[in-house]
Amino acid sequence: MALRKIVLQGDECLQKKCRVVTDFNQRLHILLDDMAETLAESGGVGLAAPQVGVLRRVCVVMNEDEEIIELVNPEIIAAEGEQTGLEGCLSVPGKYGVVTRPYTVRVRAQDRNGSFFEVEDEGLTARCFCHEIEHLDGHLFVEHTDHLLSDEELQEYIRQQEEEEEEE
Ligand code: NI
Repeated sequence: MALRKIVLQGDECLQKKCRVVTDFNQRLHILLDDMAETLAESGGVGLAAPQVGVLRRVCVVMNEDEEIIELVNPEIIAAEGEQTGLEGCLSVPGKYGVVTRPYTVRVRAQDRNGSFFEVEDEGLTARCFCHEIEHLDGHLFVEHTDHLLSDEELQEYIRQQEEEEEEE
């Protein structure tokens, strides 16, 4: 396995529609292994292939049990509810925005051998499914927010969230 370099906002790889994977070969397996390692190293919860310069419909998501879910040719087939919260991206380091997403998301995808499966999750992992799958069509989370938070706004937002949690 090897670490891949994560490209940053402004790189044209992040603006392209990625191609469907048709060959479930060793090259794909190496890509998935490298992406999992790169994600673990980064401390993030999701990574899409275009973020490592590969224009294929592949992403990896780490769920709240810290399991890596490999998604090849993923599609959101159902979404329910709503959540509003902080979102960031490894390609937009250190920047966060407040983004509204569905609360529960169901995804249909293929695994590394081409078998179809479905996975459903909520909260942060559901947010991550939406975020990563959008990368495959050349979109970034920043398109869902009117502005990225300044450091002061970010601290204030986190403080307010903590207060609300204490009140609950
Ligand atoms: Ni991202």
